[in-house]
Amino acid sequence: MTNASHLLRCVGCARSVEPEALSRDFRCSLCGELFEVIYPGWSGPPHTRPNPSALRWLWKDRRLSSESIDRSGVWRFREMLPVLQDLKNIVSLGEGNTPLYDLPQSAARLGLKDLRAKHQGMNPTGSFKDAGMTAALSVARERGFTWVACASTGNTSAAMAAYAARAGMRSLVLLPEGKIAWGKLSQAMDYGALTLQLRTDFDGCVRVLAEVVERLPVYLLNSVNPYRLEGQKTPALEIAEQLEWQVPDNLIVPGGNLANSSALGKAFLEMKALGLTTRVPRISVIQAEGANPLVRSIRDFGGERLEPVTARTRASAIRIGNPASWRKAVRVIQETGGWVEQVSEAEIALAKAEIGAEGIGCEPASAVTLAGLRKLVQQGKIAADASVVLLLTGHTLKDPDYTIHYHHGDLLTDRERAGVEGEIDATRRSTIELDASAGAVLSELERVVS
Ligand code: F0G
Repeated sequence: MTNASHLLRCVGCARSVEPEALSRDFRCSLCGELFEVIYPGWSGPPHTRPNPSALRWLWKDRRLSSESIDRSGVWRFREMLPVLQDLKNIVSLGEGNTPLYDLPQSAARLGLKDLRAKHQGMNPTGSFKDAGMTAALSVARERGFTWVACASTGNTSAAMAAYAARAGMRSLVLLPEGKIAWGKLSQAMDYGALTLQLRTDFDGCVRVLAEVVERLPVYLLNSVNPYRLEGQKTPALEIAEQLEWQVPDNLIVPGGNLANSSALGKAFLEMKALGLTTRVPRISVIQAEGANPLVRSIRDFGGERLEPVTARTRASAIRIGNPASWRKAVRVIQETGGWVEQVSEAEIALAKAEIGAEGIGCEPASAVTLAGLRKLVQQGKIAADASVVLLLTGHTLKDPDYTIHYHHGDLLTDRERAGVEGEIDATRRSTIELDASAGAVLSELERVVS
């Protein structure tokens, strides 16, 4: 199953095209919508389809292999993303195989029996983007590109720059000036990208890049690229495998450009269709209140239309007002019976501190999942006995400024803190300056334990 046995289907007008017919901006020339990868071989008679038991065994066995593509948590599942003609084109940093952690303290607070976090921040460049990047950048290499490019709120650029460097390719990064976390900017620079900070927001960077790729032979690696989403399916396979092929009742995902929710939904639906699992989780998407175009689309237009917003949130990774994959995300939410929810700046900050206190940590955009879960539980949508997996998308070290300001107490305005001051103060751990003496340290310890 390693031949390029796939087609691209438009999510707007449903026409299918050969891979070679894709335009540089990955949009349908008839209706302007995005494409998704489909595998015609999977809808043939049962004896021609992949065998679920054999696949489960094979994927587990590969973890013990000494081949790097077998040990990758993306390419280990390559039968689910047969998009390359030749596996020699794979560019891998040993991505995936990320932990699924229990969150006992948060579960107790919310009255839930089974709450876990799939931590995609534990990838080589510290975010979930690596899973999609290894797939799409390998396709770029196979097609003979020497330059790749993306617009980014930070994590995509870090991942793209790293994988391009590994492949000996050049990378062009467009970032919204002054609006991305330092950790991410430093990665793009360190991995050797041509890093341009434009005086605009993320949505502005996307617009500029669309023009650039029309004029130059650079391969676009934003998540409009359907191969990114094929790689981003694999955390869903890992979750199912980590739960002995039982799927959780709920999967909760942050929403920015809305590729992740789309990819994970596609994976769970494909797994069920292939007989690997018997059901799909409800997939819910959580946005920041100030960057909530999907919430508005579903609330105001039943998901039929999306009106862009000017995005504002300190969770800079999801500061996106005009998400590319909104149609795919709406379909996933509707097909799986999930919900959309929005959370405030204070709710995000508090949830991030709670995840930190579990010894795990994550970046602010990831913490919207726990904040959103709290609301879904309060609304009675998620019951005490339902199992829940939160998708944590980025490592806590991506944005240490945010964390330090939170603990020093100067992250949020008084207005934002109103109503949750007590909860916030209980989670803050500010640093304490002391004289350099054992006596000073001992008396501070005494104060803390008394
Ligand atoms: N969480 C993190 C840490 C992210 O970096 C992003 C997106 C998201 C969540 C949202 O995921 O776009 O698939 O809905 N970051 C992009 C970037 C846009 O450029 O790094 P999504």
